[in-house]
Amino acid sequence: MCGIVGYTGKNAALPYLLEGLSRLEYRGYDSAGIAVIENSRIDVTRTGGSLSLLEEKLAPFLPGTAKTGIGHTRWATHGAPTEQNAHPHLSRSGLFAVVHNGIIENYTELKEQLVSDGFSFSSQTDTEVIAQLLEKNYDGSFHGTVRKTAAMLSGSFALAVLCRNEPDSIVCIRKESPLVLGKNENGVFLASDSSALLRHTKDVFRLENNESVLIENGELHFFAPDGSEEEKKSIHLNRSAHDAEKNGYSHFMLKEIFEEPAAFRNTVAPFLKNGRIEFSGFSPTKEEVKKISRVIITACGSAYHVGIAGKYAIERLAKLPCEAEIASEFRYRSPVLDERTLVVVISQSGETADSLAALRMAKEKGAKVLSVVNVPESTIANESDSVIYTAAGPEIAVATTKAYCAQLGVVYLLAAFLAFEREENGKGELQSFIREIRQIPEKLSRALDYAQEAQQTAKQLASLEHIYYIGRQSDFAAAAEASLKMKEISYIHCEAYAAGELKHGTISLIEKGTLVVAHACCDRMFEKTVSNIREVKARGARVLAVTTKKHLKELSDMEYVLTVPETDELLFPVLEAVPLQLLAFHTALLRGCSVDKPRNLAKSVTVE
Ligand code: M6R
Repeated sequence: MCGIVGYTGKNAALPYLLEGLSRLEYRGYDSAGIAVIENSRIDVTRTGGSLSLLEEKLAPFLPGTAKTGIGHTRWATHGAPTEQNAHPHLSRSGLFAVVHNGIIENYTELKEQLVSDGFSFSSQTDTEVIAQLLEKNYDGSFHGTVRKTAAMLSGSFALAVLCRNEPDSIVCIRKESPLVLGKNENGVFLASDSSALLRHTKDVFRLENNESVLIENGELHFFAPDGSEEEKKSIHLNRSAHDAEKNGYSHFMLKEIFEEPAAFRNTVAPFLKNGRIEFSGFSPTKEEVKKISRVIITACGSAYHVGIAGKYAIERLAKLPCEAEIASEFRYRSPVLDERTLVVVISQSGETADSLAALRMAKEKGAKVLSVVNVPESTIANESDSVIYTAAGPEIAVATTKAYCAQLGVVYLLAAFLAFEREENGKGELQSFIREIRQIPEKLSRALDYAQEAQQTAKQLASLEHIYYIGRQSDFAAAAEASLKMKEISYIHCEAYAAGELKHGTISLIEKGTLVVAHACCDRMFEKTVSNIREVKARGARVLAVTTKKHLKELSDMEYVLTVPETDELLFPVLEAVPLQLLAFHTALLRGCSVDKPRNLAKSVTVE
């Protein structure tokens, strides 16, 4: 989604702004721009398209002499991704420039009022309303005007504002959309995402809802929502800018797939203690666990698929009713929740708008919320009753791989933890489940051996228009994720179905040559899935079977087969993910797609 950067200090601002924006590219965007202030004038440069176009435009002016500026990568919501709609937006006399993340819900009525006041607009964006409103509200106080303007906005926003009259200052304010700030000997840096600050400092200040900051002559002045100045403590980030580099890999996605064994191990190992599970951020007593009457897992996209796998694990091991719910739907339902419901919110970024809204709704209704998050300083982590962190490290490719894998690690441990505390399950079964979990990193490394073969098989897939993925139980969770991965990066139309459901409609789409990826790893469901494979083969489908070695004989007439190591049925989604991610990666590459930054997608989906 949109990204914000800003700098004010003793050096030229332009190089910092461009470097910061490049760190945010992974979030997904379709236009970019910067504004710098110098000699009582704000200069704006913007382009539709990629950051390299903006860099080209600015090349003759680098490094420049302006020492204060803001920048933005835009992911279009209101208006096409054109130069005109790109941020920063200037107010009518050029007094203010603003960059904005989020959505202004009342922009139509504000715009109507501004038009009747004589303001005119040059873009279709909701953001330009903010620029004009700042000018209309200006009373001589830069910070006061930004606060007054923000109070008139409904929706979500993180704003960074320049004012022509205050050349050494930036004012920021935020509601719902994140903003972080940091400082070093060269000046003050701000960004919507801490990955753009890591090169400059590891100690960051996180602006909370309705808090604002005036950055003036290199000093940070924080203000509480009521306008009183406040002290703020910094958060130390335990990662480096180096973590977000390709380290010799051609793509972030490939690097991150190869990091999966480490991501899984680093996530689960700290919680496994002498055959027991102890989470640092979630430590209910036995009695509290026994009071939990059901678990609801809510999330979006791949994190929702982790929820499906988690549901099977929690039901089988902890013998607790468990549902997985898509957060964008769940947030608008009227679920009956109470203090005995444990709501688990899963999110890599910790900023996903729908997951955050689901969290807030659940808390309001009295449920306890546990989140599983990869970014410690994120809003979801901040607002949950308890948090279990995944240790996947920064994930840059838009398509999630290692974070998905680490999230699975947590839900498996959570299922086993609940089972232990509820004493609902034989210790033997739990111990053997945990032994299996311990072996997953090594099995993931073996699954990576498929990398070579994936390149070959991808050649057979690259020209396809449709692929269907089927599976039952844990294999279905794996199929859902494999299908999403393929479609999001290769743009091939893919659908995942519970294998038994296909014949209730979708089988009419199967014709000679249609490719069906059949996930058939779970022993318990194997025969049933094979029947579904036979049904599609009888209608001319070509089948790529995903299975384990012991089933190869029964699947000897499949067009393609890939095998994954044996494990507990519940754990297959993590092992099946690796070869299917590799296949999606190579297929997308052959189709000439932008693998790390697929079109229209964003890494952190901070709007509804
Ligand atoms: O940051 P989150 O885990 O909350 O993100 C949820 C989804 O937006 C995310 O998993 C998305 O589906 C990925 N692009 C999938 O690769």
